[in-house]
Amino acid sequence: MILVTGGAGFIGANFVLDWLRQSDEPVVNLDALTYAGNLENLASLAGDDRHTFVKGDICDRELVDSLLATYQPRAIVHFAAESHVDRSIHAPGEFMRTNVTGTFTLLESARAHWMALADDAKGAFRFHHVSTDEVYGSLGPGDPAFTETKTYEPNSPYSASKAASDHLVRAWHHTYGLPVTTSNCSNNYGPYHFPEKLIPLMIANALAGKQLPVYGDGMQVRDWLYVTDHCSAIRAVLESGKPGEVYNVGGWNEKPNIEIVKTLCALLDELKPDAAGSYSRLITYVTDRPGHDRRYAIDARKIERDLGWRPAETFDTGIRKTVEWYLANQAWVANVQSGAYRDWVEKNYAER
Ligand code: NAD
Ligand code: DAU
Repeated sequence: MILVTGGAGFIGANFVLDWLRQSDEPVVNLDALTYAGNLENLASLAGDDRHTFVKGDICDRELVDSLLATYQPRAIVHFAAESHVDRSIHAPGEFMRTNVTGTFTLLESARAHWMALADDAKGAFRFHHVSTDEVYGSLGPGDPAFTETKTYEPNSPYSASKAASDHLVRAWHHTYGLPVTTSNCSNNYGPYHFPEKLIPLMIANALAGKQLPVYGDGMQVRDWLYVTDHCSAIRAVLESGKPGEVYNVGGWNEKPNIEIVKTLCALLDELKPDAAGSYSRLITYVTDRPGHDRRYAIDARKIERDLGWRPAETFDTGIRKTVEWYLANQAWVANVQSGAYRDWVEKNYAER
């Protein structure tokens, strides 16, 4: 079996669902259920004894030790993190606790567990760390895409905390021999994406007739990957990635934010036309994010060459599926737009 952390969040939940669609290998899912964690994402697994959910904190060493001792997972897949750049600007403390101290705690617990394994199990064990392209910093328009050897130049409290966690993972391999792998992925989108991130926020706001807040000039570029393609990349790394290696994961889909927002408006105009006119009338330019990275782009040739991974979705197929999912799952959106969600929207957009 495998132990997944953060498996009630956006990518973690997609990973758990996808994993159990592909195999019968059980999953223990450790998640603290912060504002971003949502058991509704896993509702389709109710009664499925291949999935064990444990509510708990990755910073809780005793809990992590006992889970490793009880379940003896052959791998840990570490998604749990504070993940939203804007939140890290307002309140960086929790990012340091979960992303840095939490990763440190997991590594220490994994190391103690791994050291005590018999030789066979020791050789097969993996600690997979899920990270981001943001650790590499910001690109200019003509710069080559990020490769695995690009220098780390994180610019936000979020990306700095993820960079720190990547360095810890690297060091635990180099110093102690812990069999780790790391993937640095670009922006994901798809089902269960929390509606404070760009794509689901724009869909939710458009359907509610609210403004579509584009930061700055809207020409910041992100490299978008459909979430199940990220899941298949992680599976490929777990299966045949080499301990100590880093794999960049991306969809070769660089797009400026304003183009994403216009695409969403056009899809909504087609799938759920509004009598008041095109949703693009709601586009509003607002004050930029402080320190906003201009461009990310992933060079995914290594994972393709070494592990044979390629994304299955194009941007056109993935974004259409995503809009269709949100239209079909309005109750999910309404449920996560709780009091805490409204407080965040008030805080982030009131001064823009
Ligand atoms: P998310 O914010 O949707 O989910 C994070 C999950 O972690 C939540 O379920 C939350 O409850 C849990 N969590 C937070 N703190 C915890 C703690 N202390 N102990 C246990 N659980 C805790 O995040 P996401 O977008 O699904 O991202 C998952 C991972 O992928 C993160 O490590 C992120 O850095 C990385 N990543 C995300 C993207 C993206 O586009 N979203 C891209 C590349 C990499
Ligand atoms: O690149 C990978 C990263 O992608 C992950 O590591 C992060 O966890 C994930 O949250 C995401 O970070 P971004 O900051 O790129 O995602 P976000 O959806 O917050 O913003 C995407 C772009 O859209 C970014 O340039 C900021 C802009 N934006 C965002 C919001 C919420 C807007 O213009 N308006 C908005 O209201």
